[in-house]
Amino acid sequence: MSRYDEVQRELRGAPKRWLVTGCAGFIGSNLLEQLLRLDQTVAGLDNFSTGKQSNLEQVKNLVTPEQWGRFTFARGDIRELEFCRSLCRGVDYVLHEAALGSVPRSLEDPLTTNDNNVNGTLNMLVAVRDEGVKRMVYAASSSTYGDHPGLPKVEDVIGKPLSPYAVTKYVNELYADVFARSYGIQTIGLRYFNVFGPRQDPDGAYAAVIPRWIAALIKGEQVYINGTGETSRDFCFVKNVVQMNILAATAGEPEAVNQVYNTALNARTSLNELYAMLRERLLPHYPHLAGARPIHRDFRQGDVLHSQADIGKGRRLLGYDPTHTINQGLDAALQWYISNVGASPA
Ligand SMILES: NC(=O)c1ccc[n+]([C@@H]2O[C@H](COP(=O)([O-])OP(=O)(O)OC[C@H]3O[C@@H](n4cnc5c(N)ncnc54)[C@H](O)[C@@H]3O)[C@@H](O)[C@H]2O)c1
Repeated sequence: MSRYDEVQRELRGAPKRWLVTGCAGFIGSNLLEQLLRLDQTVAGLDNFSTGKQSNLEQVKNLVTPEQWGRFTFARGDIRELEFCRSLCRGVDYVLHEAALGSVPRSLEDPLTTNDNNVNGTLNMLVAVRDEGVKRMVYAASSSTYGDHPGLPKVEDVIGKPLSPYAVTKYVNELYADVFARSYGIQTIGLRYFNVFGPRQDPDGAYAAVIPRWIAALIKGEQVYINGTGETSRDFCFVKNVVQMNILAATAGEPEAVNQVYNTALNARTSLNELYAMLRERLLPHYPHLAGARPIHRDFRQGDVLHSQADIGKGRRLLGYDPTHTINQGLDAALQWYISNVGASPA
């Protein structure tokens, strides 16, 4: 039995109280879904800046009425300390996902990204400290590796950040570390590498590559690849991310706590490969893709060229054992997009 199986069995037997920040977003709503499936008591907060009520509705339809009855939602903003404090009261574990994602958004509006990601996370740390929460697991980012060329990425070797977004995520790690040393709170940072899966928003200027391309292919719109397409990423299906969060929150070994962990697969897929994988899977459903070809355009400022994680630390200290390869993840994600994005399949 894997560590994850064991932990899930223990949680079912002795449910805990969780707070998920950003629970109406992509990763937050997937965390919410799994915690409710495990019969946990969950509070969630979101200000709906990028999150959606429809994500919460979908989770409601995926769990039983009894499980949904264990969820309470509060609309509000992590930039308000008293709101954070009130939500942390009586909570065992915080899973902190609320932030403004996207490198290009942060280049266009660094002040708003900083305000949400740095001030918001600092408020959450203060609230966790003041309300005696057992542990906060927070969303860090692979962007913290910045311009360091080494592959695969290991947690203690980072470069200079390449965007304001990357700075905010690194500052989160620095604050979490200082709060652990200064006030004795427990934190674990998870450096997510290009997460994908159901409920990731395909729309808008700041959409991530996988949902944006899937939606474009389904609708018969042009797909653009920034650069030669040989840029590569360690794409990670959201269920692996959910596993890391639950393992991190419950890890018992002292050396596992107050650390950061890569959260990925240790695989590397180029954008050209990704395009081919998506088109091949969608073609049987959408004959209009028979002649589809991507157009290459300029490389995007702030992006890193290659990304691949060493996941040995998570395996060793948390018992991480990813359940989904990129192919398995894409199969699951595509089912969701086919049902939820505009054009109906043939
Ligand atoms: N998706 C990825 O590949 C990826 C990679 C690295 C890190 N991350 C981090 O993971 C976390 C979740 O990302 P996601 O992809 O689910 O994004 P998302 O935009 O779908 O979710 C973020 C949620 O936080 C909410 N939010 C934002 N600012 C808030 C505020 N001030 N107060 C309350 N709620 C607020 C949004 O409304 C949204 O529901 C973020 O911290 C992001 O930086 C994501």
